[in-house]
Amino acid sequence: MARNDPNNRVQVATVSPEGTPAIRTVILRGVTGQGALFFVTDLRSQKAEHLAENHRISVLAWYAHTREQFRFTGKAEVHNGYATGQWAMTRAQLWTGLNEADRAAFLGPPPGRGFVAPHHVELPEAPPAEFCVVSVEVTEVDWLTVGPPHRRVHFRLMGNAWVEELLVP
Ligand SMILES: Cc1cc2nc3c(=O)[nH]c(=O)nc-3n(C[C@H](O)[C@H](O)[C@H](O)COP(=O)(O)O)c2cc1C
Repeated sequence: MARNDPNNRVQVATVSPEGTPAIRTVILRGVTGQGALFFVTDLRSQKAEHLAENHRISVLAWYAHTREQFRFTGKAEVHNGYATGQWAMTRAQLWTGLNEADRAAFLGPPPGRGFVAPHHVELPEAPPAEFCVVSVEVTEVDWLTVGPPHRRVHFRLMGNAWVEELLVP
């Protein structure tokens, strides 16, 4: 995915407690050795609120030059200030790697509410409570290549094994 798009932009869909879908772009920050995708977000954001109620998530990537679409379906886990072990380390590293403007946003007014001008803030070395990493444990992948000819392959995790099926596009 990094080879296809160095900016690693993907779309992430969550579902509100009322059942309304919501989709937005995020930067995919990496993939673990176990195949979990992860991105960072603000704990006060709508997507984090949705995931607290319903951990189901869909991630979509489209690469124009290879004409491939990947749709990942899975379960999200939000790693906040209480994270331990590897996720605590990943969270700290991702915080350090963000530029100043992006870090400042996590210390500013809450996202998605009425506009309030942000005040100048000192940036802490350790990630603030608002900064969280969302990991996605993928259970299904739908891989579509837009031809001609079109080709669609569906992968489903059954226990520990991936089951692959060629589908009509
Ligand atoms: C190119 C691009 C990259 C973005 N990357 C992120 C990101 O990594 N994390 C994030 O929370 N929001 C990111 N956003 C902003 C989201 O798309 C969204 O507007 C914001 O997170 C609020 O979403 P929500 O209210 O549905 O939670 C990005 C937006 C764009 C256009």
